[in-house]
Amino acid sequence: MHKVTLIPGDGIGPEVVMSAKKIIVSAGVSIDWDIQEAGMAVFEKHGTPLPQRVIDSIKDNKVALKGPLTTPVGEGFRSVNVTLRKELDLYANLRPIKTYPGVPSRYDNIDIVIARENTEDLYIGIEHMVGEDAAESIKVFTRKGCQRIIRYAFDYARKEGRKKVTAVHKANIMKYTDGMFLSIARDISKEYCDIEFEEMIIDAMCMKLVQSPETYDVLVLPNLYGDIVSDLCAGLIGGLGFAPGANIGSRYAVFEAVHGSAPDIAGKNTANPTAMILSAIHMLKYLGELHAAKSIEKALSKALKEAGVLTADIGGEATTSDFTDYIISMLD
Ligand code: NAI
Repeated sequence: MHKVTLIPGDGIGPEVVMSAKKIIVSAGVSIDWDIQEAGMAVFEKHGTPLPQRVIDSIKDNKVALKGPLTTPVGEGFRSVNVTLRKELDLYANLRPIKTYPGVPSRYDNIDIVIARENTEDLYIGIEHMVGEDAAESIKVFTRKGCQRIIRYAFDYARKEGRKKVTAVHKANIMKYTDGMFLSIARDISKEYCDIEFEEMIIDAMCMKLVQSPETYDVLVLPNLYGDIVSDLCAGLIGGLGFAPGANIGSRYAVFEAVHGSAPDIAGKNTANPTAMILSAIHMLKYLGELHAAKSIEKALSKALKEAGVLTADIGGEATTSDFTDYIISMLD
C-alpha cells in the first residue's frame, strides 16, 4: 500500500482534490491518505499557513497530492507554495500542456511540456525598500540550479521520446543571470545530440506560442518566465482547468494543478477538477500504478467528449460532482 500526503488546500482546493481522490479510490489503487491542512484556514487557527507537521508528513511519505493555497497579495505571509518547494528542494516544476478532444480551444494539436525552475530567481523573495520611493528585488540564479533543471528537461525529453528542447531567456538584457542560464543550456545541449536544441528570448517566445504553439515540444525556463508562460499555455488549450503539474526533487514529489484557489467560484461545486485529476494521473505513474493511471486517463477523455457532463468554465452546466461521478462510471 502507498502512503500519500493529501493537502486539500484553500478555495476550490477541497472540491477538486476530493474529486481526484474519489476517482483514484474507485480505480482500485490502495493508498493510505495522510490528510494535512495548510493555507488560510490553518493560518487563522494556528498563526502559520504551513505547520511543520505538513512538511514532516511529506518527508515521511515522499509523495503528496496538493490543492491550491491562497497567498495574500502585497502583504501578509510569504507564499506557502514557494516555501514548500524550497523546503523540499522540489527543483523541477513539470507542466504538460495538451489539447484534449472535446474541449473547446483555439488550437487542436498542442503537446508541450514546460520544465520550470522552481527554487531560485526572483521567487527567493529578497526585497527591500531603498528609502521611501524605491524598492529592490534580488534575482538569484546559481550554476547548480541552472544545470539541474536544464539537465532534467533534456533527460525528460530523451525518456519520453521528445524531439526538441527550447531554452527560454532574456540574456540580451540580464547578462549574468539569464546569460548563465543560456550558456549552461548551450553546453548541456551538446551532450544530447539526439535532441534538437533551440533558444528563444522570452518576449518572442510568447508571440510564437500564440502564433504556432504546435511547433514547440519541451520548454525549459527560469522560475518567473515559467510561471507566466504556464498560464499562457493553459489559455491555449481551454484554460487553467486543464493544466496539471508536478513539483519534483531528488527525494520528494508534490503533484498539484497549475491553477490557484479560484476564490470567485469556491464552494459552489462548479470548479473543473480536470487539472487536478491529470496531476493525480501523473502521481499514479510516479508511484508505478500504470494500469490505474491509464484507466483514469481513458475515462477522463471519454468524459471530456460528453457535452452533458462538462463544467461551466468550458460552457457546460454540470457540477464538479457530476463530472467526477461520470468519470467513475467510465472506469474499466
Ligand atoms: P486562479 O488560478 O485561482 O484563478 C484564475 C481564474 O481561473 C479565475 O477566474 C478562476 O475562477 C479560474 N479557474 C482557476 N481554476 C479553475 C478550475 N479548476 N475550474 C474553473 N475555473 C478555474 O488564480 P488567481 O485568482 O490569480 O489566484 C487565487 C489565489 O490562488 C491566490 O491567492 C494565489 O496566490 C493562489 N495560487 C495558488 C497556486 C498554488 O497553490 N499552486 C497557484 C496559483 C495561484
